[in-house]
Amino acid sequence: MVAPLKLGLAGLGTVGASVVRLIAGQREALEARCGRAIEVVAVSARSKSKKRDVDVGNMRWVAAPIALATDAEIDVFVELIGGEGDPARRAVEAALAAGKSVITANKALLARHGVALAALAEQQHVALNFEAAVAGGIPIVKTLREGLVGNKLARIYGILNGTCNYILTRMEQEKLSFAECLKDAQRLGYAEADPTFDVEGHDTAQKLAILASLAFGTRVDPDAIHVEGISSITPADLDAAEELGYRIKLLGVAVATDKGIEQRVHPTMVPRDSAIAQVMGVTNAVTVDADAVHAITLVGPGAGGMATASAVVSDIGDIARGVRTPPFGLPSARLATSEKAPMQRHEGGYYIRLLALDKPGTFATIATRLAEQQISLESIVQRHRGGRPHGGDDPASAAEPVPVILITYATTEDAVRKALAAVERDHVISGAPQVIRIEKN
Ligand SMILES: NC(=O)c1ccc[n+]([C@@H]2O[C@H](COP(=O)([O-])OP(=O)(O)OC[C@H]3O[C@@H](n4cnc5c(N)ncnc54)[C@H](OP(=O)(O)O)[C@@H]3O)[C@@H](O)[C@H]2O)c1
Repeated sequence: MVAPLKLGLAGLGTVGASVVRLIAGQREALEARCGRAIEVVAVSARSKSKKRDVDVGNMRWVAAPIALATDAEIDVFVELIGGEGDPARRAVEAALAAGKSVITANKALLARHGVALAALAEQQHVALNFEAAVAGGIPIVKTLREGLVGNKLARIYGILNGTCNYILTRMEQEKLSFAECLKDAQRLGYAEADPTFDVEGHDTAQKLAILASLAFGTRVDPDAIHVEGISSITPADLDAAEELGYRIKLLGVAVATDKGIEQRVHPTMVPRDSAIAQVMGVTNAVTVDADAVHAITLVGPGAGGMATASAVVSDIGDIARGVRTPPFGLPSARLATSEKAPMQRHEGGYYIRLLALDKPGTFATIATRLAEQQISLESIVQRHRGGRPHGGDDPASAAEPVPVILITYATTEDAVRKALAAVERDHVISGAPQVIRIEKN
């Protein structure tokens, strides 16, 4: 008889409580599949007296997560508190230092301190598993670390934040503004009271930092990521995207280029027939471009108690079976320090929406400025003002600027920014141009 694997679980919130529930519900199947029983023997959270909808009465209560991390009875410390600082960080470090394997769902901690924690885990010959930290229930970490080990990866990109995808989906389908959809997302519990972290792309960036490391064997570096959020996206952009055969998604993208690993988070036009464009609502998806398998897209729930618990339990299963892989796929000392690819050198197609002033020479000026930067246009759409044909004889409308949408062939960020700066200096447009990068599949 193999002894049970004994867990100490810190954090009994959305994910922690679901992990307790899932292990209880799958007890026999897990024992059969992993070859040994799995038991949560001790737990920790902020408040012992808090009423919980999961029964932890037969588990020992340890007030301090750090004391639980080094508890003599446990084999594995499961950190489900969250946050890049203490108590999560010190507890994880203490557990590893005490020779305990660690499982965490904490993307913030891993994005900031992942490499140091991986080095400590390797030194101690214990596991550091974090399937739940990226894209919730989607097994993307295991896919990269194990399933695609024979592939050379070219690009990884995904919808990694359900809140943003929910907002963009509602904006597109119901022609609503960003503010209206955000309010609904908050009412439904998909967005925090302070939504900045999600809607400005920072949550996606933390997850992308982890994915890029796994995909390209580089050190996790959240500061190497160019980050833009979705708050500037308007219904006009979503309409134009639809007309031009695209959808707008907030993507996290990491690409191997000859200038280094380009890592960026921004609203992106994706072809409407691509796998990633079909992903609606709070669902997440990750696409991997790799030489042997060509392209793989994994789609599923990126959050939620049970979906995330599924990922945590998969990590537990590996430890129970004695499977241990380097946390970021390579021994941490072999992770490369990647050159941050400068965003100015990003190459791709661009969507540009301008409000052109209705005066002679405007279009010629815009065309000249684009030509000066060697930017070629795939399409130009001139919108009608307020549904009226451009050039109508309504005197009030004659003074209004005319929306113009440009789709460029592949060019560089630098060229686009220089051309648009010149157009702004020429005073032929009203307001700032809207720029959205296009990601081809
Ligand atoms: N929720 C998701 O869908 C999801 C998806 C993927 C990854 N994650 C990650 O999973 C982790 C947990 O998220 P969650 O949504 O379950 O969080 P949560 O519902 O806020 O739960 C946090 C838990 O940590 C405990 N805690 C907080 N501060 C503590 C402290 N100082 N000392 C001891 N315990 C403390 C809380 O105790 P009390 O219960 O006593 O307040 C609570 O049980 C985070 O790293 C998060 O990023 C979550």
